This record gives sequence, structure tokens and C-alpha cells, in this order.
Amino acid sequence: MDIVNPLAEAYISKLSSVDDKDLYNIYLQTIEQHPQQHLQSSWVQGQFLSFISQLIQPQFILEIGTFTGFSAMCLAKGLQATGELHTIELREQDANTAKTNFNLSPKQNQIHLHLGNAVEIIPTLQHQWDIVFIDADKTNYINYYELVLPMLKDGGLMIADNVLFHGQVLEKEIKGKNAIAINNFNENVAKDDRTEQIILSVRDGLMLIKKK
Ligand SMILES: C[S@@+](CC[C@H](N)C(=O)[O-])C[C@H]1O[C@@H](n2cnc3c(N)ncnc32)[C@H](O)[C@@H]1O
Repeated sequence: MDIVNPLAEAYISKLSSVDDKDLYNIYLQTIEQHPQQHLQSSWVQGQFLSFISQLIQPQFILEIGTFTGFSAMCLAKGLQATGELHTIELREQDANTAKTNFNLSPKQNQIHLHLGNAVEIIPTLQHQWDIVFIDADKTNYINYYELVLPMLKDGGLMIADNVLFHGQVLEKEIKGKNAIAINNFNENVAKDDRTEQIILSVRDGLMLIKKK
């Protein structure tokens, strides 16, 4: 199920800036060549991530779920000159593609790619994060949230993707382990006094979570 009317999606896409032709070509390459291209953020979502990052001007960004690197390159745009973006990918082939793509980024020296399971890698990263983007296996969203919250700066931002899970969380009886996991995640965050949150109906739903 499309959350946003496809006509509205096309209109939004047409009128949102494409100010980076090189990045757009990398985005298109995944669309044209990767059998799971649907896993990539949409162009507009990528622009949204860049926009937020450029407003915050973060020192440290953590991304969970690199895929071919598009969203990491979007988020990296706002990094301070000495800032670092750490991104974690489980699948070696996608990590290799991401590495090739990162080599084309003006921020390549600031992007650190970690190959492996995010649940194991997150505790080894000892930074205080300004932005965390959660975009990996849905059944671990709550684990990721609890793992990174103590390492998120006060006032820092966590962004969780796919929180409407193709509309499946809107069903009366939520079925499927991923939709159930996402719904539990959404309800848990909503109850948590440590954070404030808002869900935006960008693409498949983005939850913006601010640490108090
Ligand atoms: C939706 S894709 C990420 C898309 C990417 N953020 C973008 O917008 O272009 C999810 C990625 O998370 C990876 N992944 C799944 N489980 C993971 C885990 N436990 N640790 C690290 N990465 C994982 C998958 O291999 C996949 O490449």
C-alpha cells in the first residue's frame, strides 16, 4: 500500500531540489542495477535527510543499515569539517558497493563503514551521537533504540524509517513479524518519557525522536 498518493509523490519529487547530480547518478545506479532497489531511500527522503543534517550540523552521525550508501551520503552533507559518520551494514556485497560509492563523495574521509551485525557493532562505537538513522532489520528497532539512546546527546535526534510499514500498522489486526515489531516500537517510543517524537508520512513513514 502506498502511504502517499503516487501523484502527490511525483509532484513533491518534481519540486524538491536536485542540487547534486553526482549523488543523483549514484541513487539512479542502485534503482537500475540492484535487485532490491526498493530498500533504498527515495530521492525526496534523501533530500530530507540532507536538509535536517545541514540544519543540525552534526559532529557525529550513526546510521544503522547502509545498503548501497545513498542515505549515508545524504546525511554526511551536514557534517562539520571534523565530523564523522559511522554506518553499519551486514551484507558484504552491499557494503562493497557502498564503499565504491563513498569513494565518489566529497565527504569520503569522514565516512566510516562497518561490516557486520549492528547489534554487536553499536556498543563498540564510543561517540556521543547528534543524529542516529535507524534503517535496518525491523525486529531489532527496539534494541537499536535502547542501545543508542544513552549515547545520543541531549537534544539529539534519532530518525527511524518505515514506521508505517507499507500501511500494515494501520490494519485492525496487525499481521507479520515486521509490522508487529514496528508497531511495538512505535508504541514503546510514544510511551517513553525520555524522548519526544513525531511521525511524518514521508514515503513509508519517518519517526523523528528527540532526546529530552
Ligand atoms: C532498508 S536498507 C537500508 C537503506 C539505506 N539506509 C538507504 O536509505 O539507502 C536496510 C539495510 O540494513 C541491512 N541490515 C539488516 N539487518 C542488519 C543488521 N543486523 N546489522 C546491520 N545491517 C543490517 C540490510 O542488509 C540492508 O542493506
